[in-house]
Amino acid sequence: MIATMHVPFVDLRAQHAPLAHDLDLAIRGVVDRGDFILGAAVERFEAEYAAFIGTRHAIGVGTGFDAIELALRAFGVGRGDEVVTAANTFIATVMAIIAVGARPVLADMDPVTYAIDPAALAAAITPRTRAVIPVHLFGQPADMEAVSAVAQRHNLVVIEDAAQAHGARWQGKRAGSLGHAAAFSFYPSKNLGALGDGGMITTDDDEAAASLRLLRNYGQRVKYHHAVPGTNSRLDTLQAAALSIKLPHLDGWNAARRRHAGAYASRLGGRVRTPVAAPGREHVYHLYVIETGERDALQQRLRARQIDTGIHYPVPNHLQDACATLGYKAGDFPATEAAAGRMLSLPMFAELTEEQIDYVCDAIGDAGGGRTAPNR
Ligand SMILES: Cc1ncc(COP(=O)(O)O)c(C=O)c1O
Repeated sequence: MIATMHVPFVDLRAQHAPLAHDLDLAIRGVVDRGDFILGAAVERFEAEYAAFIGTRHAIGVGTGFDAIELALRAFGVGRGDEVVTAANTFIATVMAIIAVGARPVLADMDPVTYAIDPAALAAAITPRTRAVIPVHLFGQPADMEAVSAVAQRHNLVVIEDAAQAHGARWQGKRAGSLGHAAAFSFYPSKNLGALGDGGMITTDDDEAAASLRLLRNYGQRVKYHHAVPGTNSRLDTLQAAALSIKLPHLDGWNAARRRHAGAYASRLGGRVRTPVAAPGREHVYHLYVIETGERDALQQRLRARQIDTGIHYPVPNHLQDACATLGYKAGDFPATEAAAGRMLSLPMFAELTEEQIDYVCDAIGDAGGGRTAPNR
């Protein structure tokens, strides 16, 4: 009988402890300068992030939600338009489409990668479709070759939802540089997280970048001169300063996540379904999602052993009350619905220890259930 050990789902204190001194200095710098709104640290982090992703522009905004909404607005997507996205994504993707007055049209997922199924995407296109939002869910880029082919055929704007995929690569290129624009979230538990809310849009499009800089700041070109109706969604200067400290560590953290994923897979493969990294896609394991037919029982057993887990997401978007007016019903997206009842997210963060991984894998082994679901 092994002693009980608490394994958190994420451990932000472990991430921040070695950075405490640098974070303190960065925050102190902002306080000393007093440039709290769109200060020097924002411009600096925008330049660093654009260089990291490999785009001409990066525009800091308030949240990942705002990043999607404003990217759609910058490309003129709005009332009367349809935007296709994955049925299985965090609700923010869908709500951002609703926020610009467009209609979200959902498409089922590829059950291997959890990304939008390109055939379902193609089938969802109508004469009103203006844009597609592929979501790099759980940290693995969507099949961008197939998505881009459909988009080109129908002249669609491609906005990547890269909120879970900081640093991931598709055919060697970073997620965030694969469409017309991309949205990132710096919610604290993301692979690159702020000390509060934050978001970013990356793009190579000069016109969209200029428009985004207006939209995030009341449409203001010069102080108190407003060119277009905008909003207030600026990346906070303190958050930008903290993110500049963290960005140089991101590739190392992602490499650690991949090592942990390998360790989980070698222990759990065959017992539960483990994540599949498709060829040409570098997964950054924002979430480590397994599938099993005894999901709820397993989660309870792990909870009893003080292992924290999550379910991403228990209710698919089309079955959420908030989406009732979209007119979908149970059975519309079978792959998404099947996965929602089987998925369980295990603890995953860079600082996870071998001991913790062993403890989780032992607990899953002891939970029984045998060889429940081979990898598909
Ligand atoms: C896939 C996805 N899209 C969008 C968002 C929205 O980001 P935020 O919480 O920063 O608004 C998130 C995360 O929360 C997300 O996981």
